[in-house]
Amino acid sequence: MANTILVGAQWGDEGKGKIIDFLTERADIVVRSQGGNNAGHTVIVDGVKYVLHLIPSGILRRSKKCVIGNGVVLDPVAVAKEIHGLREKKVKVTRDNLLISDCAHIVLPYHRSLDEQRELSKGKNKIGTTKRGIGPAYGDKIARVGLRMSDLLQPELFRTKLAQRIKENNATLKAFGVKPLNAKKVEAEYLAAAEELRPFVTNTVVFLHKAVAEKREILFEGAQGTFLDIDHGTYPYVTSSNTTAGGACTGSGVPPHRIDKVLGVVKAYTTRVGEGPFPTENQDLSDMLHGMGREFGSTTGRARRCGWFDAVSTRYAGMLNGIDELAITNLDGLDSLPVIKICTHYQLGRKKLEVPPGDLDLLKKCTPVYIEMPGWQQPTHEAKTFNDLPKNARVYLKKLAELTGAKLTIASVGPNREQTILL
Ligand code: GDP
Ligand code: IMO
Ligand code: MG
Repeated sequence: MANTILVGAQWGDEGKGKIIDFLTERADIVVRSQGGNNAGHTVIVDGVKYVLHLIPSGILRRSKKCVIGNGVVLDPVAVAKEIHGLREKKVKVTRDNLLISDCAHIVLPYHRSLDEQRELSKGKNKIGTTKRGIGPAYGDKIARVGLRMSDLLQPELFRTKLAQRIKENNATLKAFGVKPLNAKKVEAEYLAAAEELRPFVTNTVVFLHKAVAEKREILFEGAQGTFLDIDHGTYPYVTSSNTTAGGACTGSGVPPHRIDKVLGVVKAYTTRVGEGPFPTENQDLSDMLHGMGREFGSTTGRARRCGWFDAVSTRYAGMLNGIDELAITNLDGLDSLPVIKICTHYQLGRKKLEVPPGDLDLLKKCTPVYIEMPGWQQPTHEAKTFNDLPKNARVYLKKLAELTGAKLTIASVGPNREQTILL
């Protein structure tokens, strides 16, 4: 396997975790380069379910190395807890298989409070964030007032910087009518987490460059999805990082010309959790999928909004990320339907649009134009090869890849590792 960037090509939760775990068998290193514990990547192995938030989904394969890169915003207390949870499930997590960048910014309690307060103050215009403090943490990074892992590992320096930041943020929290944070309490909690994380922290750029030189194969695990990208997504209903392929390079320090391939992951339909425009949203499809017990968020448990496959957006995701290959998950979710719709274009007044407009108000005015495909109305979850799938399912998958402009290489028919078809 070549150096591959895996991205979500919709609004997140495409099944990236499952596909990463599957592909890790053939990779040497798995790298997270953006986002934080807003992500929730589900992997099921031998009947055991793991939901990974900050630790790369490659961690479940022994002997593979995982890296949390500089572009991630990391809540040290949450990551320490995640490590404990994995160890309780007998997953090995040591410096031999996990490294954390010393340049990764840390999420602090005032980021979480501000996230929550800003959402409350927006009322019905809220973004529907995961309230993990992601936006405020990236805000501080860009404003050059963030604290990084390297600060956290120097107790005296951390104390001084934290006290100053808490003072400033307490003034803001006071304006929201929120109880001020106790610097001593935060300091104690974070310095305890720092000692747990110290062994993992290093210059991950040097590690990755050595790996590239040794021709070890790297898999970059995208978090969130293309339309949650801070630049290219449905702004302001987005997350605060670059979720598109370029983010993997800036967020890891691996240069673009060392990347061989981009793999996009999509669901066979579309889901979105949180607020914001969603042209192909469909209540009947939502009701059906929720009725099957599917499409509840891995991080917040919220019911995901569901809709038909939107090839206008995946076509654009193909351009933005340079998607070469496509993995389509959750095909089995559509098994019972007699007719399945695919949105091929948007109609905006008299204009037919091939890609989504950047402006949110224009996007809201777009009407999806659909083609209808015959369903297959039989279970697919036991298919082991592409030819085991019903003919209409094969035709449907090929159509999604054709409209997206990428080569179909993986189809997924269930949440388990072995329910994955490599084409
Ligand atoms: P991620 O954030 O992109 O890693 O995706 P999530 O884990 O948040 O959500 C995807 C959900 O779909 C999880 O519950 C997975 O276990 C599940 N899943 C992934 N692929 C398939 C599939 O092909 N079929 C079914 N039934 N579930 C799947
Ligand atoms: P994975 O990696 C789906 C959404 C939130 C909200 C918006 C901003 O599991 O695909 P944030 O907390 O990031 O400030 O919230 O982004 N969001 C996700 N939606 N999957 C995710 O991650 C998400 N991470 C954030 O619901 O709409
Ligand atoms: Mg998820």
